[in-house]
Amino acid sequence: MDTPNTARSTDVDRIGSGPDQEEAVLRELEEYYRTGKPPWDSGVTPPELVALIEGRGERRGEGDGALPPGRALELGCGTGTNAIYLARHGWEVVAVDLVGRAIEQAREKADAAGVAVRLLHGDATRLDELDASGPYDLFFDLSCFCGIPPHRRDAYAAGLTSRAAPGARLLMFGYGPGVLDDKFSGVTADELRARFAGWELADITPGTNPFPTFWFTLRYGGA
Ligand SMILES: C[S@@+](CC[C@H](N)C(=O)[O-])C[C@H]1O[C@@H](n2cnc3c(N)ncnc32)[C@H](O)[C@@H]1O
Repeated sequence: MDTPNTARSTDVDRIGSGPDQEEAVLRELEEYYRTGKPPWDSGVTPPELVALIEGRGERRGEGDGALPPGRALELGCGTGTNAIYLARHGWEVVAVDLVGRAIEQAREKADAAGVAVRLLHGDATRLDELDASGPYDLFFDLSCFCGIPPHRRDAYAAGLTSRAAPGARLLMFGYGPGVLDDKFSGVTADELRARFAGWELADITPGTNPFPTFWFTLRYGGA
């Protein structure tokens, strides 16, 4: 499954920018979790993450072997499917989501799975406010960064950079600009190169959704 359903209809562009936009995004996300299972919550770990962790399949610029477990931070973990996957594969995992209900559901799932994941309710662009100190060897983001209002994106990048171990990876899935009907969602390779100083954009693999999506792999320090 390399086609996560990222659909999030939105009218947040009507609500201004800056803090108003953040508030509007939060309200919209909370509504998705309040009213049931959000459309993106497939419960399936994408093969791109499996390939990185377990070493199956080809990743450009990387060997084909499994990644040795280390410390991982997931941004926008939703109900925890991938944080639990990582923990099951030996990773020490911290996972963050902006929506309290998502974190509650992730806790229930982690307990049921019998794995330890440190689940934090909070903002991936304000990691200093959370108990999420690094260093981390792996960051994973499935459709979180691409939905963050632009004025918070540098803070997101800075938060990861200050917590990155030498050679750390960031595996990010995002949709392109213009996919949603707001005025800010989406991410491009150029944006990542500009915002993630000190990181190398090592790989860009298009997703197979019927709209533009991408899997980005960034390496910290180019190691
Ligand atoms: C499209 S959903 C994907 C959820 C999860 N990664 C998955 O694939 O099931 C985006 C997630 O990012 C979370 N999110 C959005 N902005 C965030 C932020 N600033 N900090 C932390 N989480 C955020 C949302 O609450 C939501 O759970």
